[in-house]
Amino acid sequence: MLVTDYLGQNSIKKIMFVFGTRPEVSKLAPVIFEARKESRLETIIVSTGQHREMLDQMLKVFSITPDIDLSIMEEKQSLSSVTVKIIDRIEPVILSYKPDMVVVQGDTSSAFLASLVSFYNKIPIAHVEAGLRSFDIYNPFPEEANRRFISVVSSLNLAPTKKAKENLLREGVKEESIIVTGNTIVDALYWIAKDISEIDTTKRLILVTAHRRENWGEPMEELALAIKELVMEFPDIAFIVPLHKNPVVREIFGKILSNVDRVELLEPLDYPSLIKVMKSAYLILTDSGGIQEEAPTFGKPVLVLRDTTERPEGIERGVAKLIGMHKENIIESVRELLTNQTLYISMSKAGNPYGDGKAGERTVKAIMHFFGMCERPDEFTS
Ligand code: UD1
Repeated sequence: MLVTDYLGQNSIKKIMFVFGTRPEVSKLAPVIFEARKESRLETIIVSTGQHREMLDQMLKVFSITPDIDLSIMEEKQSLSSVTVKIIDRIEPVILSYKPDMVVVQGDTSSAFLASLVSFYNKIPIAHVEAGLRSFDIYNPFPEEANRRFISVVSSLNLAPTKKAKENLLREGVKEESIIVTGNTIVDALYWIAKDISEIDTTKRLILVTAHRRENWGEPMEELALAIKELVMEFPDIAFIVPLHKNPVVREIFGKILSNVDRVELLEPLDYPSLIKVMKSAYLILTDSGGIQEEAPTFGKPVLVLRDTTERPEGIERGVAKLIGMHKENIIESVRELLTNQTLYISMSKAGNPYGDGKAGERTVKAIMHFFGMCERPDEFTS
């Protein structure tokens, strides 16, 4: 037996990945694929089932089959009911598999609660996409609070950018526990997008996605009304609006926009189809975090339907602009991009500040480094 075996450096480490929603899958897939290449790591995949159809759609795209599915989703579930069910169902799984590390991504209830239960059981947590902050606990709600909590209990903080690392340092997170990896979504995108062609159309397509809790109700109505006015003003544009499965979101859009010419309300698109629309779009309106990170790869200007963003890199680079959810503001910002070519070109040429396609590799090296299995990886610099 080698001396290193006594130090645990040659033993196999059990790495449990926990996710529950669509974006967590696309952002953890590159890490899972890299981890599976390592003979010294055993991967265990746990889905909370926080989402059902949308999650299954994404799992199919990446050919990932969970080892355990907690199946917690209910129609119109409340945050509290999600919380109780995940805690109750994940604890026995963690206790029976006894992972050496639990890996979570981002800021969903699934990520937060898997971290909480791992912490209660003193299992080290690796947090992918650590350090994003909007500095407003109600925006995005409850995600800002979720990610702050995860940072408090994580042993390994995988920050996508230098700015995210700086946020963590400011909160007193130990520097040696932070590694800047780039965002894994860029890896996933390279993997999927290479074979996807653009839609053949003479119209300027505008992709719209909105689902965030803080935008439910009146803000979402304002967005729908803005879309209605814009199609009347510009005969050469068409809106593509894939609707989140959440019934709250569907009711509002359906009420104002069904049967409006050149507005297509669609079921949630699978990831390759969404990328096809993104690639073909003239511009994008979104409250999603992931789309803010993806769109710059295709040189598409993004108008962010929020008052704050935890992704300031895109704004600073000039590829994205925060416009909020007021009707007049939305109309004015879209009109400006449709009519001002200089502005359009400057926003579409700025490049992607979020990643270089190697974040999955760096993340797995960081995990192995945590267990003393390899050197600390080189960090991502944008
Ligand atoms: C959750 C995350 C959010 C993430 C988003 C991605 C939290 C608190 N929020 O928000 O950070 O950006 O997922 O989509 O974790 N539904 C279905 N089928 C599905 C998926 C959802 O019917 O496949 C419906 C259900 O009625 C469910 C509702 O959508 O009750 C809302 O899902 P929920 O997980 O509560 O929150 P999201 O708003 O999706």
